[in-house]
Amino acid sequence: MKKIIICNWKLNGNKKFIKKYIKILKKNNKLYNNYIICISPPIIYMDYTSKLIKNTNILLTSQNVDIHLKGSFTGEISAKMLKNINTKYIIIGHSERRLYHKENNNILLKKIIITKKLNITPIICIGENINDYNLKNSKKICKKQLKYFIKKKGIKILKNIIIAYEPIWSIGTGKNASIKHINKINKYIKKYINNKYKNINKKFKIIYGGSVNKNNAKEILKQKNIDGLLIGKSSLNIKEFLKIIKNINT
Ligand code: 13P
Repeated sequence: MKKIIICNWKLNGNKKFIKKYIKILKKNNKLYNNYIICISPPIIYMDYTSKLIKNTNILLTSQNVDIHLKGSFTGEISAKMLKNINTKYIIIGHSERRLYHKENNNILLKKIIITKKLNITPIICIGENINDYNLKNSKKICKKQLKYFIKKKGIKILKNIIIAYEPIWSIGTGKNASIKHINKINKYIKKYINNKYKNINKKFKIIYGGSVNKNNAKEILKQKNIDGLLIGKSSLNIKEFLKIIKNINT
């Protein structure tokens, strides 16, 4: 199973930046033959990016989706529209959306359902804040976040999805979680889901996000329980990102 690397650009970039970035990425395509590489630009540049990556092995990821497919919902983007421009993954439940947009579990569940309905893969973000980390509640919090979806829709809701473990305290802080901690949590989540649904293991990936950079990416990615990376800041600089890809190949 190929490991996946997703560049979450958040609210950054413009057409000039994207054009240059994709051009360089395409030139270096031999470097990521063994990985699935995804770009997640701001929604307004999704279509533009989609055209630039046509006929490459770079895949398109959305940072958001609405809970409706169409209708009077000013400012929203539907999964159908995202599908239309070849979106393969949608990030759901990022801590920034939970915090700044008050997205609760009920909304997130609707987003997961609608994403799966359109055969797009949801990337469900989970993770604890610094207080819970200090109180050694990481496992408990991650389990609680997933349990809500399982309770409402059964374990099948987690089939063919990606879980992104992103401890909130590590996002954008330069403090990545230790390998030991990531392994502990990812292993725990895999076990938790597998105990509920035998054989689901092969049907879902669990990746890590939070201050991944050229110095730590290789070590994190080579762990058995880590199926990929969700990268913010370090994916914004093509030179830095290429160094990450080069390093994980060595
Ligand atoms: P950073 O890599 O900037 O810490 O961001 C991680 C993240 O939030 C990816 O979704």
